[in-house]
Amino acid sequence: MNRSQDTQHDQQPARSSVAGLLGEIAGVGTDPVRGGYSRPVYSPAEADLREWFIEHARRRGLDPQVDRNGIIWAWWNPSGGPLRDAVVTGSHLDSVPGGGAFDGPLGVASALAALDLLEVDRLRGNGSAPSRPLGLAVFPEEEGSRFGIACLGSRLLTGTLDGARAGALRDADGVSFAEASARHGLDPGRLGRDQEALSRIGVFVELHVEQGRGLIDLGAPVAIGSSILGHGRWRLSITGEGNHAGTTLMAGRRDPMVAAGAVIGAVRDLARARADARATVGRLVPVPGGTNVIASRVDLWLDVRHPDDVVTAELVAAITVRAEEISALEGCSSSMVEESLSATVDFDADLRRRLAATLPDAPVLATGAGHDAGVLAAHLPTGMVFVRNPTGVSHAPGEHVENDDAEAGAGALAAVLRDLLAAGPTRLG
Ligand code: HGY
Ligand code: MN
Ligand code: MN
Repeated sequence: MNRSQDTQHDQQPARSSVAGLLGEIAGVGTDPVRGGYSRPVYSPAEADLREWFIEHARRRGLDPQVDRNGIIWAWWNPSGGPLRDAVVTGSHLDSVPGGGAFDGPLGVASALAALDLLEVDRLRGNGSAPSRPLGLAVFPEEEGSRFGIACLGSRLLTGTLDGARAGALRDADGVSFAEASARHGLDPGRLGRDQEALSRIGVFVELHVEQGRGLIDLGAPVAIGSSILGHGRWRLSITGEGNHAGTTLMAGRRDPMVAAGAVIGAVRDLARARADARATVGRLVPVPGGTNVIASRVDLWLDVRHPDDVVTAELVAAITVRAEEISALEGCSSSMVEESLSATVDFDADLRRRLAATLPDAPVLATGAGHDAGVLAAHLPTGMVFVRNPTGVSHAPGEHVENDDAEAGAGALAAVLRDLLAAGPTRLG
């Protein structure tokens, strides 16, 4: 670690607790209407969280930098060697509308707390300075809540999503991702695959709140991730005939809202008929959306997930046909457009074995939630660590992590990082 880093870090309190770090941002982006937090990417709330992380990284002498895709990188590199084959950990700070306090921020706070544990060890002489760099990363737009595609930052980094296509995505107010990125000081013309940034990473491990009840039932505070369910998002538009609610008799209406209601029920029924399938309509926008107006069009968004990508495709096809049939019965038409698709991901087996050796008491869990780790997994060894959520609820205000489990998570992450920092190169290929 260079002198400035050493000096800087020595001025640090011994270490920050995860609960303490999260407590610092507990008031940022609270949503008085929905409850919970609404922290869309590049909103004032999420910008405040990015600043919070950057300030903590600076205080630890990590020289945080925002790259051309809006990813924040902060490096602990005591050896002063090249930023190559690094061990990287991190997560995201953006949220879904009315989301919980932990989805994303727990992984970022735990990364800072785990670093502090490693540095305290080093300063106490319990552990030598790592020969490999440790990177902390914060990815933008993991939820895809503002611009519609999840894991936008990691998809750009890896080239999974084209920079021009990402830049053209628009939010509900018509602001493009290019404009939002430019407002945050980025050059939208440079959005896209960043081979240099990608090649720095030797291995990536993301800590995340568990978004289910697995650890409650298993009675353990921490789990190792095995896989991520394949998932995708589709926009279904149903078009009818807009008209006056008062002067238009019921006979002969072509009301897409009526069709949409029947389609949502059909989505539920078709998904129920396939074991392990999940299909959700969480967002619906009538056009024009007036109380005294028969809508001319309804846009609704479909989230479909299944462990077998073939079943996901079959289910979407069945929903598409059913939507056409229902729409036709209402004198309407429908169209289905795929907006994003992620195949089921199995995390790197060698890395998973290594995590299990470091955390022998941690059970192994699959997750139905998508993560940046899932996008990176196609490019480099990637793993996940989950922390118990006693409510089992996520993407809602009820999401929770007890302080003791949060500290257990940071301790587990520190142990994993310590082991990987001492290991040799882990880069695939
Ligand atoms: O939607 C998901 O699974 C993740 O929380 N973005
Ligand atoms: Mn998340
Ligand atoms: Mn989420």
